[in-house]
Amino acid sequence: MKKDKGKELGIVEMKNFLSYDEKIEERTNTFEKIMTIYEMAIKELETKINILQKEFKVFYNYDLIDHVNTRIKQPDSIVNKMTKKGYELTYKEMIENINDIAGVRIICQLKDDIFKIRNLIEKIPGIYIEKEKDYVNHPKESGYSSYHLIVKVPVTLSKQIIYVKVEVQIRTMAMDFWASLEHKMKYKSDKEVNKKDSKELINYAKIVNKMDSKIMLMNN
Ligand code: GTP
Ligand code: MG
Repeated sequence: MKKDKGKELGIVEMKNFLSYDEKIEERTNTFEKIMTIYEMAIKELETKINILQKEFKVFYNYDLIDHVNTRIKQPDSIVNKMTKKGYELTYKEMIENINDIAGVRIICQLKDDIFKIRNLIEKIPGIYIEKEKDYVNHPKESGYSSYHLIVKVPVTLSKQIIYVKVEVQIRTMAMDFWASLEHKMKYKSDKEVNKKDSKELINYAKIVNKMDSKIMLMNN
């Protein structure tokens, strides 16, 4: 085997890749370059997850991963979030503080598969877990449940390797159904969700959680 070529390339953190102290202005060349790097990071991670998905299906006859969705945050969404959180509108602040510019969502059937998938991601060479939040064992007050990771993914360019942050959400189909429904009600409608509906949503989250636990036991 040839020597690992990657080792000859310098490793650069995303925030040091270019000089990003300049102000964010949509449609500038810099924005496009940065977003391209995030897109590459998504592709890189998605491919690795698809390989695991295929491996479990073909070699172990097991549907560990049902499907994978990816998305890149829209520029106006990024700017809105930064304004809301009080960050200075520079690329540097954006790269350092906005962790969900690149998003990968992994949907599985069983609750305990979430943790199997998490452990498999941890083992992928070159991918590092920077932060994680367990909303599966500790659901949010809203009822929201999922496992969140912020991972660093290496993107290999011609002259250097850049580490890029990607937000990974792992959840069951039932959790995904609930989150989509709640998101539509809370964010997409102009009206505030009233107290009664909010309570009802929390109640549905509990039902979803109970169902996930029962289905998991049934499968064991
Ligand atoms: P941001 O919410 O992204 O500013 O950061 P955070 O540090 O609070 O992240 P957290 O891990 O709590 O949530 C990040 C993402 O999880 C959100 O962008 C949503 O996609 C999802 N999420 C978190 N809470 C809820 C919720 O109550 N309902 C729904 N539908 N999705 C949620
Ligand atoms: Mg987000």
